[in-house]
Amino acid sequence: MHASEIHTADLLEAMRHVSERLGQARGLPNAVYRDERLFEFERDQVIGRTWAAVAYGSELPDPGFAKPIDMMGIPLLIVRDKSADLRVFHNVCSHRGMLLVREEARLRTVIRCPYHSWSYDLDGQLLSTPMIGGVDRHSCDGFDNREHGLKPVRFAVWMDIIFVNLSGSAEPFDQFIAPLEARWSSYFGGQGRKQLGPAATGSKPELTVGCNWKLAVENYCEAYHLPWVHPSLNSYSPLDQHFNITDGETMSGQGTRVYELASIAGTRLPLIDGWPADKLRYAEYISLYPNTLLGLQADHLFSVIVTPRSAQESLEKLQISYVGKARDEDEFASCRAAVLKSWDTVFREDIFAVEGLQSGRCSPGFDGGVLTPVQDVTTQHFHTWVANRYTAAILD
Ligand code: FES
Ligand SMILES: [Fe+2]
Repeated sequence: MHASEIHTADLLEAMRHVSERLGQARGLPNAVYRDERLFEFERDQVIGRTWAAVAYGSELPDPGFAKPIDMMGIPLLIVRDKSADLRVFHNVCSHRGMLLVREEARLRTVIRCPYHSWSYDLDGQLLSTPMIGGVDRHSCDGFDNREHGLKPVRFAVWMDIIFVNLSGSAEPFDQFIAPLEARWSSYFGGQGRKQLGPAATGSKPELTVGCNWKLAVENYCEAYHLPWVHPSLNSYSPLDQHFNITDGETMSGQGTRVYELASIAGTRLPLIDGWPADKLRYAEYISLYPNTLLGLQADHLFSVIVTPRSAQESLEKLQISYVGKARDEDEFASCRAAVLKSWDTVFREDIFAVEGLQSGRCSPGFDGGVLTPVQDVTTQHFHTWVANRYTAAILD
C-alpha cells in the first residue's frame, strides 16, 4: 500500500467486519470517507483498477470536439475524431508535460500545446514540432515524431456512457458489463439496448454534493430511505413493492413492480420494444460499481455518473435516454420534461441525506455502524466490494 500506512492495520481490521453476518456486520470505517490520502489510494487501487464512468458521449457532439476531464486529479482528454469515433488520452503534452486542453472546445483538426506549440492530430499522433531544431527548423536528428504521440487511455462506451480503465489491467469491458447485460436482456427484447439513446434536447442536470462518492453510490443501492426522503416517489413506487438486486460482484440495487410515473405525470412515451407485457410497471435501479447509477423503466433509462472530486465532494451528472423519436420530437417534449423533473427532484432530495451521512462520519460516536439483515443487504454488497479491493491492495 502506498498511501496512509498509519491506517493499514486498522483498515484491514475494519474491512474484515464488513462481510460478517448481517446484523453483526459493520459498514466501512469513517476514514475511507474523509481521508484525502485514501481518496488517492482509491483512485489508484479501487476505481482505477476497474471501469469507471467519466462522461457521456453526447457531451462531445461532433467531430473535433474535445473535453478535458479531471478524474480524481488525473487530467484526461476525450476527443471525437474525424470519423466521429471517441478517443481518450492523458491530457498532457509528451514534451514537457504541459496540460493540453483546459476547457472543452471545438478543435477542428489538431490539438495544439499552448507551451511550445507542438500539435497532435485527433488520433493522438504528433504532427508538428515548430522550431524544434532551431529557428525555422521544425525537425531535428535523433527525434522521431512517431514515438511521441499522446498516451491513450483504455476506454469503452456503453449506453452512451464513457468508461475508462486507468490501470489498463481490468478485465475486458464486455466481461465487466456481462452480468448487467444478461440481467437486462429480458427487458430489452430482440432489438437490444441500442434502441435507447440520450435525449437530443433538454438539460443534463449536474449536482455538486458534499459527500464522498461512496455515499452517493450506497445511498442509491438501498430503498429503505424512500418513505422519508422521497415521499413523492414513494407514492407511485412504494417501498413495500421493492426487491433487492445483488447480481454478480459489481452491481447492486433495487427493483420495483409498480413504477407508475406515466399516469401521475401524464406521460405517454413509446415503450422499449420487447419489454415483457406482464412487467410494464417494473423498473430497476442499479449501482454499477464503482460510480454509475442506472434506472431502467419501460419507456426510459436514466444514468448518473458520480465523479469523485475530493474525499468529501462529488459531482453527479444525470442523463436520460428514450426510445426512437421520443428522443427529440416536439410531441414528446412535455413528457421528457416531466420525466427529467421527476428524477432531478429525487436526486436533489437525496442531497441532504448523503451530506448528513458525510457529516456523521466526523463523529467519534460512529465508525461504520451496523448493517441490518433486511434493509442493508445491498449496502453490504457494495461495502464488501470496496473492502475486498482495499484488502487485496493492502496485502499486495
Ligand atoms: S510542453 Fe508541449 S510543446 Fe513543449
Ligand atoms: Fe434516494
